Amino acid sequence: MPDLLLIGGATDKMMARMADKFTIHKLADGGYPVDKITHVCTNGHDGIKPDVMASLPNLKHISCYGVGYDAIDTTEAVKRGIVVTHTPNVLNAEVATTAVLLMLACYREALRDDAYVRSGAWEAKGNAPLTRSADNQTIGILGLGRIGQAIADKLAPWNPTIVYHSRSKKDVAYKYYDDLKTMAADCDVLVCITPGGPETNKIVNAEVLAALGPQGTLINVARGSVVDEDAMITALQSGVLGWAGLDVFAAEPHVPQALRDLPNTVLLPHVGSGTIETRAAMGALTVDNLLQHLSDGTVISSVPECDGM
Ligand code: NAP
Ligand code: 8YV
Repeated sequence: MPDLLLIGGATDKMMARMADKFTIHKLADGGYPVDKITHVCTNGHDGIKPDVMASLPNLKHISCYGVGYDAIDTTEAVKRGIVVTHTPNVLNAEVATTAVLLMLACYREALRDDAYVRSGAWEAKGNAPLTRSADNQTIGILGLGRIGQAIADKLAPWNPTIVYHSRSKKDVAYKYYDDLKTMAADCDVLVCITPGGPETNKIVNAEVLAALGPQGTLINVARGSVVDEDAMITALQSGVLGWAGLDVFAAEPHVPQALRDLPNTVLLPHVGSGTIETRAAMGALTVDNLLQHLSDGTVISSVPECDGM
């Protein structure tokens, strides 16, 4: 049987399907036969470290459990003829739900009011302060791709005005901004859902956050690297930025204490796609890609850089 290197974890179902066709070696266990590894199964968080990739001379396929592949060096993979696959589309709706959840939790102060009930303050002090309505807001999507569009669709019941910024204008009815700061200034909410990596590194900077403003809400379900985290903390502390709902952070799983102390934030531990149903669909596609590559050399969902390989 061909040899597969597993980086990070995999569900029991994924393990059973992979074990049927591959001899599985776990990176964490060490001692794997570098010359024999032809396939890697990894995930969006761990990716594959350059030294590990360089140590595998016969690697042919890296299958990523997750759509974001900024932790995999695709330039090097293409150069070496290694196909990289990922799990697009099957998680669109779930990540969109997470973005809407974060936005609503910020607007309706769900954490503050939950604490108000649990602490007995409701009984002791009376009704909680009023919150802001999430209806009729102008919502800017940074990265109107597969998930960005799903977020726009899922927000429809709140009657938003959707606008967007990405590198290219799309064939959609929403207003396009070619400048992120200008869009932020016109928005009540900025939702980040671009890929991570050098091109988007800290594109949501202090100026963009100030443009979003004291009544503005930042939602980040993309990658922590997309937002200048230090600038965001300063803006949230000073009131330059109103609220932030965050699923992703610069150095996960570390979340700066200053961010954890802020009452105007809602923080999730990178669970945008983290439901049983969606993770099962992602796992199935991750393994489908591996098995199809093994059987005929083709794959189902390569990353764009590897299309046609
Ligand atoms: P996608 O379909 O490729 O969409 C990405 C969008 O980002 C496109 O609209 C693209 O448009 C835009 N974009 C790319 N580079 C940009 C730049 N430099 N400036 C502005 N816009 C840029 O990808 P997707 O499937 O929607 O996934 C998006 C990302 O979400 C993933 O890469 C991942 O990092 C993140 N994600 C997070 C979670 C989570 O658990 N929180 C789950 C899934 C995905 P242009 O090409 O026109 O710029
Ligand atoms: C996952 C993600 O948490 O798909 C992505 O890009 O960030 C998430 O769906 C991750 O990839 C699983 O490790």
